[in-house]
Amino acid sequence: MHPMLNTAIKAARRAGSIINRASQNLDILQIQNKTHNDYVSEVDHAAEAAIIETLLGAYPQHSILGEESGATDNNSEYLWIIDPLDGTTNFLHGFPQYAVSIALLHKGVLDQAVVYDVNSNDLYSATRGQGAFLNDRRIRVSKRTKLQEAIIGTGFPFRDFTHLDTYLPMLKSMILSTSGIRRPGSAALDLAHVAAGHYDGFWEIGLSKWDIAAGALLISEAGGLVGDFEGNESWLETGNIVGGNPKIFGQMLQVLAPHLTDALKTPR
Ligand code: IPD
Ligand code: CA
Ligand code: CA
Repeated sequence: MHPMLNTAIKAARRAGSIINRASQNLDILQIQNKTHNDYVSEVDHAAEAAIIETLLGAYPQHSILGEESGATDNNSEYLWIIDPLDGTTNFLHGFPQYAVSIALLHKGVLDQAVVYDVNSNDLYSATRGQGAFLNDRRIRVSKRTKLQEAIIGTGFPFRDFTHLDTYLPMLKSMILSTSGIRRPGSAALDLAHVAAGHYDGFWEIGLSKWDIAAGALLISEAGGLVGDFEGNESWLETGNIVGGNPKIFGQMLQVLAPHLTDALKTPR
């Protein structure tokens, strides 16, 4: 295993044990409301601190982008992108769908990825060019070829409602074109489920880098495709992301196309 992936896994497991311990005592958690429907707990902060300590302990010169602590630019070719707890709302309610997400960007290219499902103890990982794994088993995207038979994950707008009136007709078209839609509430895990073939595809509007960087590498290393809503490369910058097996990815883009406002097209 690549030593940087090994370090990322150690960091994710440390964060996972902080999160698991806290999940036993949700009543006593200190919670802050960052903005509308955006809550953060002391657990998010503690988990992120443990991850950063582990990563910088091994690679002190690397740069960091963490959801809770922001950017530490050490002028390095290496940038770790961290979501210490993806699915905070679920966590705070005791709904068991949340994960730790850690990705490493090297010279702007995704190199390592870990998504750790804290509840099931399932660890999804990938190194560029080496395939994607669920624990020690190689995973591949699904083989389903017809969107009408596919299940597709998504995330509903719940904080920022700018695109709600665009999203709802998109959702209607997807409901009519597929076998079913799922919205568990952790984008990082959703993408990991696409990589493992549990879902056939996923889309969401306006995510952040830390929600998607790791999950996207899992999908491409599992033989799937990731793009923005026009199938292009802007997904990490815009957070407008579609992922799926290659056949389903193309059909999802066709369903989304008639709904795209200028703001949701590839920036030109
Ligand atoms: C959120 C989750 C959710 C998605 C939101 C994200 P957080 O992350 O991934 O599924 O719909 O857009 O912000 O805030 O729980 O880390
Ligand atoms: Ca997140
Ligand atoms: Ca988070």
